[in-house]
Amino acid sequence: MGKVCVIGSINMDLTIETDRIPAKGETVLGNRFNEYPGGKGANQAVAASRLGAEVDFIGAVGKDLFGKKLKKHLQSEGVQTNGIIETDTIETGVANIILSQQDNRIIVAPGANNAVTPTVVEQFEEIIKNADIVLLQLEIPMKSVERAVDIAWKHQVPVILNPAPYQKLSKSMIEKITYLTPNELEAAEMQTEIGIGDLMSKLIITKGSEGITFSSDRETKKVKGLSVDVKDTTGAGDTFNGALSMQLADDKSLEEAVYFANAAAALSVTERGAQGGMPTKQAVIDFIEKEVK
Ligand code: RIB
Repeated sequence: MGKVCVIGSINMDLTIETDRIPAKGETVLGNRFNEYPGGKGANQAVAASRLGAEVDFIGAVGKDLFGKKLKKHLQSEGVQTNGIIETDTIETGVANIILSQQDNRIIVAPGANNAVTPTVVEQFEEIIKNADIVLLQLEIPMKSVERAVDIAWKHQVPVILNPAPYQKLSKSMIEKITYLTPNELEAAEMQTEIGIGDLMSKLIITKGSEGITFSSDRETKKVKGLSVDVKDTTGAGDTFNGALSMQLADDKSLEEAVYFANAAAALSVTERGAQGGMPTKQAVIDFIEKEVK
């Protein structure tokens, strides 16, 4: 079993389903409200753990009800939480999510996720050193992401960075990253800001129902999207990243890993909540077999 170290955010997702998204200054009556565990970091950790990886988490929650619930939840999903600090200076991260027309719109108030400082990352160097792969996103401060990449580089641990929500990345950090996994919007922003021509060998671009584009042996490859009954797309990208890291930590080839992660992400949208539909390894294997027939 491969070891994945996820360094990132933990949020409580507060979701409302609505047939119509309000315009500026407008109130609409929506449908159901739900509270789900979320945060890109936590989602990716749960995805990898459900698929069988050994997962360590480095992050932060507030000393409040959401913080307690979310840490306990990660433990119940088999994620190691020794690297999660609890802060009483700021509340646990929250995401406000609007679900409409089979897609999501998300606003995050990072709260305690901003307490994951470079010093906190350094404090857990041993966890990073012992991992087979490190998985990062951009819901903790950029300086901490950079520090984590430096530490992983020092110990020759490969790094996947999911550049979401997109922020400008330094060239010196990109050089030390093994794979970048933007969605189409993030890839377009990267192209405008830094150009992605030279980065093709590192890029794995997720395109929702259109599937995945990546490059291997200097060729551009595509894995097609799989058709499923969509209930909630929140966390599909996170499932992809968790599954990809689990597969690569398990020494699978990039092609195998992308193919598997694409199937895991498709399954994840068939239930409500970012983590609700995240599959087990056997569920992904069964789904792939059914698709091939
Ligand atoms: O990627 C989905 C996640 O983004 C949600 O769970 C929300 O918390 C935000 O971090």
